[in-house]
Amino acid sequence: MSSSAPASPTHAPTSSVAAFDARYHERFARSQWWRDARFGMFIHWGAYAVPARGEWVRSIERISKEDYEASIDAFTPDGVDFGAWADLAKAAGMHYAVMTAKHHDGYALFDSAVSDYTTAKRGPRRDFVREYLDAFRSRGLKVGLYFSVIDWYRSDFPHFGDRQHPERDNEDFRDHQPDLESYRQFMHAQIRELCANYGRLDVMWFDFSYPGMTGEQWGAEELVAMVRELQPDIILDNRLEVSGEGKGTIVTDHPSSYAGDFVSPEQIVPPTGMTCDDGTLVPWESCLTLNNNWGFHADDHDWKSSTTVVRQLVECVAKNGNLLLNVGPDAEGTIPAESQRILREVGEWMDVNAESVRGCGSADLPKPDWGWYTRNHADGRVFAHVLEQPIGPVALTGIAPAAVAGVRVPATGEERGLSKSWTTSNYPDVSFVSLRDPEEHTFPLPDPKDTVLEVRLKD
Ligand code: GLC
Repeated sequence: MSSSAPASPTHAPTSSVAAFDARYHERFARSQWWRDARFGMFIHWGAYAVPARGEWVRSIERISKEDYEASIDAFTPDGVDFGAWADLAKAAGMHYAVMTAKHHDGYALFDSAVSDYTTAKRGPRRDFVREYLDAFRSRGLKVGLYFSVIDWYRSDFPHFGDRQHPERDNEDFRDHQPDLESYRQFMHAQIRELCANYGRLDVMWFDFSYPGMTGEQWGAEELVAMVRELQPDIILDNRLEVSGEGKGTIVTDHPSSYAGDFVSPEQIVPPTGMTCDDGTLVPWESCLTLNNNWGFHADDHDWKSSTTVVRQLVECVAKNGNLLLNVGPDAEGTIPAESQRILREVGEWMDVNAESVRGCGSADLPKPDWGWYTRNHADGRVFAHVLEQPIGPVALTGIAPAAVAGVRVPATGEERGLSKSWTTSNYPDVSFVSLRDPEEHTFPLPDPKDTVLEVRLKD
């Protein structure tokens, strides 16, 4: 299966609908760099870091706009160092980032002519979006912005009876009248500012739709036309139609004009991967947190290990997907020390093994019992990701010895021949690789996170 533009006829869309074909190919062409990068940093940062109970705090605790003012006023992260964030992303082996320009609380981190509810006009008097973009771009990272189409600050946005608004069940708001036309104009104006005033944006990550608030409630057709006109190469997620649990029309043969360029499963790596309804490829990106919150949460210490992160990344790649891994800096702008440690450990693995991730996708081989295969689509190298301790040589199931030109172990730098052990002689169609000389039957894997074997195949 190709992770790049699907040139191979077996993976070309089966639909004869010309418009679908064109959109399908555009989607792959636009997202080429992103599918090659495979690994990005999600950054959830805003005034919700002050109460430090996650970015949904206003909704969950039904905090009024007035009471939230204390958090807005206290959000004055004078020492924030976006360069340090970018350095951390690079150290982890990430190639792109997506930061919250505005989350559901509606407090913008960018300067806006249509709102005073922004860090550029309130306490900090700074345009954090511009600072973030400058720092990440200057280090060679691609840059994206998250923008919440939901807004709990605007009085024209639905309040009472809405699915998650902080005032959804407050009787004082029973007669509140939303004005979606006015809201749409405002929201489009802010997105225009982001697309027009901040140079090239690589990703726009809209969040999110729900029953009754989707597609044309956002004025999505007009919105996407505007975004694509201002940012012709930008790639878009699918959440103008759905949330992290949906797919939307992107997987059908009649994608809407705002179906987006990729599916965005949230807090899950899709168990069977992700394809269009007809089985053809669709770009996708799992977004995962490092603990259990996107925004900073002072009491959430339930951190994933770097081993888990490496393995989730590899699983995404083996299924032709990306991983967007979240950090939630605190109210001072410091990325939690635990997050930093985990990302640096992931980076140590990436320093040696990134070539088994970047430019890679599914190897089109049956899943091996001990882990995953990935394949570099430009040069055809297969990477065996050995997660389970083997007994004796590793069985490269699905790869015949006659097809193997050579094997290398990036963790040790060694070239390995195929195993000649008598124990493997009953399986002449399977290539075996021993990780030890002389061949021993038990040995510790060189890298307990994921020992990678690079397998070069004959043409
Ligand atoms: C969501 C949430 C959220 C988070 C996110 C990331 O559905 O509302 O707070 O920003 O998506 O995928």
